[in-house]
Amino acid sequence: MIFLGLASNYSARDVLRHSFSVGSKKDYKNLELALSKRYGTTLENTSLIYSGRSAISLALKSFIESNRLKKGDHVAVNSFTCFAVVEAVKNAGLVPVFLDLPDPKKAPSPDYSPETLAVACEKDKKLKVFILQNTFGLPVDLKKFLEVKKKYNLLLLEDLAHSAGRFYTLNAKKREIGTVGEATCLSFGKGKSIDTITGGAVLLRDPTLSFPKSFNKSALKKRRKSGDVPRASWYPLFGAIARGLAHLKLEKYWLGLLLKLRWIERSADTKLLENTTITNWQAKLALRQLGSLKDKPLREFFLVENREETLKILKKKGIRLEESWYEVPVSPARYYKKTNFPEKENKNAVFFAKHVLNLPTWYYDKKHQKELAYAKKILKENALNGN
Ligand SMILES: Cc1ncc(COP(=O)(O)O)c(C=O)c1O
Repeated sequence: MIFLGLASNYSARDVLRHSFSVGSKKDYKNLELALSKRYGTTLENTSLIYSGRSAISLALKSFIESNRLKKGDHVAVNSFTCFAVVEAVKNAGLVPVFLDLPDPKKAPSPDYSPETLAVACEKDKKLKVFILQNTFGLPVDLKKFLEVKKKYNLLLLEDLAHSAGRFYTLNAKKREIGTVGEATCLSFGKGKSIDTITGGAVLLRDPTLSFPKSFNKSALKKRRKSGDVPRASWYPLFGAIARGLAHLKLEKYWLGLLLKLRWIERSADTKLLENTTITNWQAKLALRQLGSLKDKPLREFFLVENREETLKILKKKGIRLEESWYEVPVSPARYYKKTNFPEKENKNAVFFAKHVLNLPTWYYDKKHQKELAYAKKILKENALNGN
């Protein structure tokens, strides 16, 4: 069987490593050091944090505190994204401005274009920051974005949730994603490039920036020792059990029970906390993953004519793609209404989200390759007309 979710990116060895990992203060410090080196900033301007959304919010607040922005300014956000990003922008006292995707029928892309950003800047003088998300780990055209950045004097926040370890191409050279903007934010949430189930990191790369006075890196609380920590450490094991039960079509009962017991939480329900950070054992696992990041997309995306039908066909063969990113322009669907997403101005994103499916990129063995080849065949047969 093939899964997109349920910690399917975890090998049996990873499950054990995750469940029984023990870390020390040194691991925590070493992760901060490695991140600061990799993304080109000081240890002082680097902090581990509770989640990716906490990282984005803190980076934006740092822009404000360093007088590079003021409350109420506008932030360009991809119109195909996670609720977490929108929540973080609002939490910082800023206004998210959604930028539409290019026409999916002509040039399908999961990220807004530099041309769209330039048009938005012409119209909106409050637009001061843009978030580049490099969705699915697919790098955007950095050169063109940098031209727009310069022309309109914008701040760039690179959100590495999907793209840690990937590279832009700039003047025929590779430039690592996360080494360009004024701030770099990572999420270590479920299914992300670095996955320790929860967690994140924030790096202020511009030396004139500093964290808000209200943020005290050395006083951050660790995630609770009871409650959410056991759940985080056992999640890959719970996922492996769910994948096993899926053969008997029983996984939904198992997941329902875990949710009811609050032993697991849905990814979108991760909290935004700026006074709490990850545990030492999570830092140890994240450091290990940071050192072995692969330069390949996180997921492959396809546009199909009828998503529900295609999912059904694939499910019959044990290919479970229900957790594709993103099923609505601001995912998940259960929070979509809250975001007041301007559908009329973002028709391409609405269309894209309605037709997109993802394939995992983390299966290597022969059996799964065969299944993936079958999935690709079905996705091709059901492709969007003219795609
Ligand atoms: C593109 C993107 N950025 C940031 C986040 C936030 O991550 P977290 O759940 O760690 O807050 C997500 C979450 O799914 C995401 O998809």
